[in-house]
Amino acid sequence: MRTLHQEFQVSYRYPVHFTRGLFEPHNLTLREVVAREGEKPRVLFVLDGGVLGRFPQLPERIAAYCAEHTDALELAGEPLVVPGGEGIKRDSAQVDRVLAAINKSRIDRHSYVVVVGGGAVLDAVGYAAAVAHRGVRLIRVPTTVLSQNDSGVGVKNSVNAFAKKNFLGTFAPPAAVLNDEDFLAGLPYRDWIAGVAEAIKVALIKDASFFARLEADAGALTARDMRAMRDLVYRCAELHLQHIASGDPFEMGSARPLDFGHWAAHKLEAMTAYELRHGEAVAVGIALDSVYSHLMGYLEAADLERILALIEAVGLPAWTPALARAGDVLAGLTEFREHLGGRLTITLLSGIGSGFEVHEINEDAVRDAIGILERRAAPQESCLTAAAV
Ligand SMILES: NC(=O)c1ccc[n+]([C@@H]2O[C@H](COP(=O)([O-])OP(=O)(O)OC[C@H]3O[C@@H](n4cnc5c(N)ncnc54)[C@H](O)[C@@H]3O)[C@@H](O)[C@H]2O)c1
Ligand SMILES: [Zn+2]
Repeated sequence: MRTLHQEFQVSYRYPVHFTRGLFEPHNLTLREVVAREGEKPRVLFVLDGGVLGRFPQLPERIAAYCAEHTDALELAGEPLVVPGGEGIKRDSAQVDRVLAAINKSRIDRHSYVVVVGGGAVLDAVGYAAAVAHRGVRLIRVPTTVLSQNDSGVGVKNSVNAFAKKNFLGTFAPPAAVLNDEDFLAGLPYRDWIAGVAEAIKVALIKDASFFARLEADAGALTARDMRAMRDLVYRCAELHLQHIASGDPFEMGSARPLDFGHWAAHKLEAMTAYELRHGEAVAVGIALDSVYSHLMGYLEAADLERILALIEAVGLPAWTPALARAGDVLAGLTEFREHLGGRLTITLLSGIGSGFEVHEINEDAVRDAIGILERRAAPQESCLTAAAV
């Protein structure tokens, strides 16, 4: 037998810029990201239809921006508008539309696709960009809290297939991420607050002082205070980036600590036909895994109370009726393991700011945790019913 051994390293580096007025002609962020000596890269824009509904002047602004910077970049035709929200990840025709636009606009590996939108659009367009020509350069402009502080800054993209979330996808670091806080002002309240769940998640597993800051800012966040949200998005994105760089960016192992609270969340999203937003499902998943951590003796009662109180204070759900279908929820454990491969690995809490991993879950204790959350939610629901009557 003869064997040749192949080994090489590829290092990745990309900036995550925080700015305002990204497409104001005097804002040089995008120009500087794409500009290259002696070249004028072609740039295709793909826009989330939901963002366009709120910012109808966006195509003109982009055209004016590109006209101002025509010495550094070349606009590759009209922007492509795609539907916003989870539906795009379930509709393979939308990925085909993006691929067709990449082909028609003659985007090559030195050109750019700039995608402006929420996490779902970033995931689907990122997937198309990653497979076209085996990967064209992608610049993400995330427009939701969740995509600015979590999904848009990482290395993953995907679409759903065979009724499974994120079944098709690649690990493909972007060329750059451009976070413009002005987009957040356009969000409905539900999407503004849903992304806060990812900040609570990463604070719980990594940073107790960030958690305390979220507690202090809870009122400001619900009052749509941009200072509080700017701080939250920055620190949350920073913690996600640090984690990706320090650990296992392409998830070769079995652990996925950033997915604390997510095994149940993914299942609840599917069980509610995506009526529940990803961030809302994550809030319920965090509540469930925190109560479970307490029931298993890892997390003190006082810490559990702080966690549930923060989720409630920002107006996120700690309960949703689908959670009552405990058997269906528990099936999410197997699906979570199958998506990742290897051993079941679930992150739990031993305190605020410290996550740790387990490889077995006690299903009776999960059922007990579900019962505790149901009873905690019940008085509020009966108050609401009484008020409605
Ligand atoms: N790739 C990853 O690592 C990763 C991580 C976490 C979540 N995700 C994915 O992200 C998706 C959820 O993303 P999301 O929470 O951003 O929601 P979303 O993309 O579904 O957007 C929610 C709605 O808001 C609209 N919208 C977006 N920006 C807006 C703005 N500025 N003003 C007004 N409306 C706006 C969209 O059109 C959509 O209708 C899920 O598919 C989830 O699986 C991916
Ligand atoms: Zn998430």
